[in-house]
Amino acid sequence: MSSYAKAYALSLNSPEEFWEEQARAIDWHEPPRRILSKDENLADRWFEGGKLNAAWLALDRHVNAGRGCDTALIYDSPVTQITKKYTFEELLQEVSIVAGALRRSGVVKGDRVVIYMPMVPETVVAMLACARIGAIHSVVFGGFAAPELATRIDDATPKLVLAATCGIEFQSVVPYMPMLERALELASHRPESVVVLQREMSRATLDNTKYMDWQDWVSNATSADALPVDSWDPLYILYTSGTTGKPKGVLRDTGGHAVALNYSMDAIYGCDAGDVFWAASDVGWVVGHSYIVYGPLIKGCTTVLFEGKPVRTPDAGAFWRVIAEHRVKTFFVAPTAFRAVKKEDPDCKLLERYNIDCLEYLFVAGERLDPPTWHWLRDHVDVPVIDHWWQTETGWAICANMVGYGLHEMKPGSVTLPVPGNNVAVLDELGADCGTNKVGNIVIRPPAPPSHFFTVWGDHGRYVSSYWKRFPNAYETEDGGYLDEDGYVYILGRTDDVMNVAGHRLSTGELEESVASHDAVAECAVVGIKDDLKGQVPVGLVVLKDGVAVSAQSLEHDLIRLVREHVGAFANFKRICVVERLPKTRSGKILRQTVRKMIDGETYMTPSTIDDPGIIDEIETELAKVGLIGQRS
Ligand code: COA
Ligand code: AMP
Repeated sequence: MSSYAKAYALSLNSPEEFWEEQARAIDWHEPPRRILSKDENLADRWFEGGKLNAAWLALDRHVNAGRGCDTALIYDSPVTQITKKYTFEELLQEVSIVAGALRRSGVVKGDRVVIYMPMVPETVVAMLACARIGAIHSVVFGGFAAPELATRIDDATPKLVLAATCGIEFQSVVPYMPMLERALELASHRPESVVVLQREMSRATLDNTKYMDWQDWVSNATSADALPVDSWDPLYILYTSGTTGKPKGVLRDTGGHAVALNYSMDAIYGCDAGDVFWAASDVGWVVGHSYIVYGPLIKGCTTVLFEGKPVRTPDAGAFWRVIAEHRVKTFFVAPTAFRAVKKEDPDCKLLERYNIDCLEYLFVAGERLDPPTWHWLRDHVDVPVIDHWWQTETGWAICANMVGYGLHEMKPGSVTLPVPGNNVAVLDELGADCGTNKVGNIVIRPPAPPSHFFTVWGDHGRYVSSYWKRFPNAYETEDGGYLDEDGYVYILGRTDDVMNVAGHRLSTGELEESVASHDAVAECAVVGIKDDLKGQVPVGLVVLKDGVAVSAQSLEHDLIRLVREHVGAFANFKRICVVERLPKTRSGKILRQTVRKMIDGETYMTPSTIDDPGIIDEIETELAKVGLIGQRS
């Protein structure tokens, strides 16, 4: 039996024994009383009674072990031309001061702090400072527009909001203040204070009745020590898109998260203390939380915070430059980023300028790794290219080819094998096991491993109804796929109406709410269609109100603007098609999957429950007219 097979079998047959051993690898202020138990909602929970602090694990522990002078964080910002390194000792000092400032502002354990900040070290500091005093952070991706920020402020009801004056997108500065101002107007909840970090490239004149300048806020603050919290205490809320317009607040605990991430650094990514780990994501996404901040730092690795893009910062050699310059051992990125590099530098010529012999593993996740990108990477980069699969809800990989147990044979299109703790099965519509090579719904049998979320913030009913209702005794991942005869897992895409745009998860509901808010629109449906660069992009089918006279062109223009203002430019909403009516079932469900397949050129079946089969021809004709599908023969 291979070491992976032994570990996997142990994790399923004796989960408590398996995770007790992993829990011993981190330092606890008080060890857990029980390894696996149930909370008052009957959710499986890990390490009951244990006391720990995630920021202490990420910083103090390494300083206390004599590693204070080692580099903890490298900030690399090509556009501002700033590269700054923080040792564990320096980062600890910054975090302790900000934790002290939070305390002085009245933030206590369990209070929420919304962080709307770009890829700057202060964002990492703010997250760790919250963790240090037991406050729950909720980072909102800087690309979200004001209404999305407002929704999150209303849901998380933070005592404090931390923001910055701008982010950077390629060469341009994206001002955050208009978004922040508008969000605070839109939100019903009133945070007690709003603190703004002034960035040199876009200083704002702050109205001091509404905002505090970050520098003033931290000045003379007294350092705060790490507060040991319960293993079950929440570390953060991170909002993710479901099918409706209202995002779900994924609540992550402290103990399970720390144990799982610590284990994953070596077992999945082959990284130990002192190694340099780089996740080229954004702190606003789960990858940023787990693998820019908590995972590498808890393990004692150096983490890279890159405020740039794969291309045009300044060129498609940006990744190679950062890997070479900072001696990155394991690199983790979304396939879309490499598609962008491949497009601009098809022969990978820019790699010749750099020595990346430090690089040992290249991990991708966030969306399907398309075979052309996989082959391109294999042809040009002389390290294993490892696809792995996970979700905001799980906080770390469900399936991977795990370096720590010795890499398995690579099979293109597969995310390899389940990570220990994940009892993965594929079920058909009736909940029966699909066996091998048959596509179905991928589920995880309980208990889900540590770090998996255990509720939706403020709405446990939604947690149950969204994830645990459809199949008895199974967590529904809402991804479809299959297992092959060797147990390898293949992910084929979402089974719900969530789309994946440049590795970002977007709900049809969010976009449809924006489109439907236009005066001329009676009804709409948004679907995610294939895109060579971004994986998917949204397209809107729009039904006009009776008697409305508006040109399709000006409507498209208005709707693009609306989505940018309501959701954000990163949604990449750029195309619409005006139709007489939407394809629906007799019960009124919009047939989004049928429309998507139609546009993507996939075979589709007209469902027997369709209201009027004639509509399919009608929609095809309209889509063909606007060039969204080829002209019908
Ligand atoms: N703040 C503000 N605006 C943002 C933003 C942010 N954090 N992120 C994206 N946007 C804006 C962009 O500026 C762009 O605006 P524009 O339409 O005015 O030009 C728009 O949203 C679309 O952005 P994007 O989809 O990122 O496309 P792009 O052409 O600007 O860049 C890539 C293409 C492939 C380089 C980029 O999408 C990328 O780096 N992707 C990897 C993302 C990733 O890591 N995802 C995984 C997360 S785990
Ligand atoms: P998010 O919660 O934003 O990280 O998005 C999670 C979703 O991204 C998953 O449910 C999948 O649909 C998709 N995804 C993540 N990783 C992969 C992968 N390696 N292959 C295919 N799809 C993936």
